[in-house]
Amino acid sequence: MNASRIRRLARPWLLIVAAGYAGAIAADTAPTEAQKLRHDHFHQLGEAFKAIRDQSRSKSPAFPALQKAAQAVNDASVDQGRWFPKGSGPETGKTRALAEVWTKPVDFAAAQKLFADSAPQLLAAANAGDIEAVRSSYGTVGKSCKNCHDTFRQPNDDD
Ligand code: HEC
Repeated sequence: MNASRIRRLARPWLLIVAAGYAGAIAADTAPTEAQKLRHDHFHQLGEAFKAIRDQSRSKSPAFPALQKAAQAVNDASVDQGRWFPKGSGPETGKTRALAEVWTKPVDFAAAQKLFADSAPQLLAAANAGDIEAVRSSYGTVGKSCKNCHDTFRQPNDDD
């Protein structure tokens, strides 16, 4: 076996080792940092969802803005599984995430799935330029937000 063949064979292993290392860093993210990141993610999700509401109520909706926001909402629905690492609950600093997120993982996963199942329909409606479909799928996605908040988020006076 010549040297270049050995290098070719070795390369995938390097990648696997590198990926494992990156994973270890992510898992090591300090709980307070994870809480801050989660807060930022939800804040952005809230802004994107508001933008969809505003556009869908407008007489002349701006579809590029609508599509950008629907894409952000959809991306969040795909990414949300990484926002709740163990140890980032109310036992560590300030968060509105209730302990139930971690003590009822099956129910929490179901709440996440409701969101993940409805967000692609909103995105498809926005991309198709179909404002009626945007309005109705906005309503369905909105119910999935509320469904999760009702059980897994600390209530606020202004909710
Ligand atoms: C599977 C559960 C779940 C789903 C689905 C969900 N949320 Fe949340 N959301 C939470 C939890 C838990 C928090 C509290 C996070 C924290 O404080 O660490 C939160 C916090 C928020 C916040 C507050 C952010 C801030 O600035 O403090 C906003 C806004 C928000 N969510 C909007 C939405 C919108 C809009 C949707 C749907 C498009 C949605 N959420 C879907 C669980 C969920």
